Amino acid sequence: MDKPFAYPPIHIMYSAFGAVYKCSADGKMYALKTEGQDEKIQLLKMEVFVLMELAKAANRHFCKIEDKGQCDIPKCNYVVMTLVGKSLQDLRLQQPKRRFSMGCSISIGIQCLEALEDLHAIGYLHRDVKPGNYTVGRPDLNELRKVYVLDFGMARKFAHEDGTMKKPRTAAGFRGTVRYAALSCHLSREMCRKDDIESWLYMCIEITRGKLPWRNLEDQDEVGIFKKECRKEKSIKQLFGGCPRQFIEILKLSDSWKFFDTPDYAKIYKLMKEAIVSTKSEEFPYDWEPEAIKKAEERAKAKKASGKKGSSSSDSDKKKEESEKKKKKEDKDKKEKEESEKKQSEKKAPVGAASSEKVKNPRRATK
Ligand SMILES: Nc1ncnc2c1ncn2[C@@H]1O[C@H](COP(=O)(O)OP(=O)(O)O)[C@@H](O)[C@H]1O
Ligand SMILES: [Mg+2]
Repeated sequence: MDKPFAYPPIHIMYSAFGAVYKCSADGKMYALKTEGQDEKIQLLKMEVFVLMELAKAANRHFCKIEDKGQCDIPKCNYVVMTLVGKSLQDLRLQQPKRRFSMGCSISIGIQCLEALEDLHAIGYLHRDVKPGNYTVGRPDLNELRKVYVLDFGMARKFAHEDGTMKKPRTAAGFRGTVRYAALSCHLSREMCRKDDIESWLYMCIEITRGKLPWRNLEDQDEVGIFKKECRKEKSIKQLFGGCPRQFIEILKLSDSWKFFDTPDYAKIYKLMKEAIVSTKSEEFPYDWEPEAIKKAEERAKAKKASGKKGSSSSDSDKKKEESEKKKKKEDKDKKEKEESEKKQSEKKAPVGAASSEKVKNPRRATK
């Protein structure tokens, strides 16, 4: 990059230990992620390292690093990378039913898994797989159908340079986000590839159904117990109701894998593709594409018009006023609910002193 970044950068988001900004250089837009140099836990180094390794091996679903370094005023480490679009979490919460259409959910799920497969192939686990860490590309670059995975601050190398796997530690601290954490994580076990896949499946269920049954539970251990219960035959519907039956098969498959096993990604893609066929759904357009938005608006209009038929003109004004009032209240409630759900899904977990890592990195255990 020849020219310095244009200032001031536009703030997008606070990240765990810094902030993310939009900035420009050479007429192009980029994301600038910063982290205070005095932060005890330095996550940006890992992020940069993983992104550099990924750039050598794969480029399907990852941001490209444009620049990196340290800045004196303010004192921070920074990385400049591809600017991407909205996160899957934001997109989901924007949907009227807080879920994507069936075809869109499954198709997005496939792309999210490809990203994990590429990451695993270079020997890293993500360890914080969730809708807030996946985004789509930018509309101005025509990338609304492309999925990116972000946030490698919690990534961990699970394989040695020669490809053999590292031995698990006897106890590992809680890593990631309670809502999407794998069972092993609740049990403070060392995480492995199948755990990223388990979190990915929870995420697929949430985007398909609009919720996970433990979404309102606060306690980390209670959530773990709930996840275990949901595997029992009598409660399986509580987790999978409204999802294609192939999702249940994927959970059974992933639960059958052991720590050192390489997940059978091909089998999961096959089941996901079968799910598209068996639910008679279409992969495209994705719900946030203009074409899909237009269709949804037309459907809503038609529904409203058919509901209006039969009302007399004498009371129509009053009814209109009432319905506008109701709509305003609903919009307000929806906005409040959206905010609270977003906060809930990212919430910090209570810090226990059970393991050294929990103490070492308490702020990264999020709900
Ligand atoms: N490359 C990027 N382009 C656009 N937005 C980004 C980018 N990287 C991060 N963000 C935004 O900033 C948020 C926080 O970044 P993330 O890398 O997930 O850090 P953390 O979760 O550790 O705070 C993301 O959820 C996303 O909204
Ligand atoms: Mg994140």
